[in-house]
Amino acid sequence: MRFNLSEITEVIRNRRTVYPEQFSERKVQKDQIELILNNAIWAPTHGKTQPWRFTVFQEEGLTHLSDFLANTYLSSTPAEKQNDMKLAKMLKRPLLSSVVIAVSMKRDVTNRISELDEIAAVAASVQNMLLSCTAYGLGSFWSTPSLLLNSKTNDFLGLDEQDKCLGLIYIGYPAEEWPKGQRKPIEYLTEWRTQ
Ligand SMILES: Cc1cc2nc3c(=O)[nH]c(=O)nc-3n(C[C@H](O)[C@H](O)[C@H](O)COP(=O)(O)O)c2cc1C
Repeated sequence: MRFNLSEITEVIRNRRTVYPEQFSERKVQKDQIELILNNAIWAPTHGKTQPWRFTVFQEEGLTHLSDFLANTYLSSTPAEKQNDMKLAKMLKRPLLSSVVIAVSMKRDVTNRISELDEIAAVAASVQNMLLSCTAYGLGSFWSTPSLLLNSKTNDFLGLDEQDKCLGLIYIGYPAEEWPKGQRKPIEYLTEWRTQ
């Protein structure tokens, strides 16, 4: 064995979604954010296109993100479908977080790799980020409100038309105990073929 598999298994199985409402005020340090991003970029990437892009929001940046999410939610949702709870979450969640990282997929100019593979690579990079958060004892929440696919989001993040923001990762220290998780056993999910 080249690595301590029991520790890696523990990190993987302990990773939990922790919502910003559950974060304490303790700040995440810059070196932690850099390690999280440096781990993200070691995900597999078909054709080595490295399609991941990150926008890190901290301090005043979180206020701008909160304003952007609330305004875009209001301008892109028909009045009869607007929901006060959703709007409040858009406004509050960035402000309750120490850092939010928008993770985007940048399309390679040659388009030689399928969009599906580029999205899969970025999703794998997000998992690296979430596991790194877990190892630090940081809670994380991968959020994908539909407005992320709005062209206003591309403008806000400086993305081109063919690029996509695949999520906002809210990060902070949990104020209380680490949440418990639940999964179906592999027996329900796996077919073994030996002939
Ligand atoms: C691609 C992706 C998008 C997600 N988007 C949201 C979201 O918009 N809102 C939300 O409450 N949870 C979202 N989640 C988190 C799931 O709700 C969470 O992973 C699930 O409840 C299982 O809990 P766990 O992460 O603690 O194992 C998302 C997860 C993934 C993989």
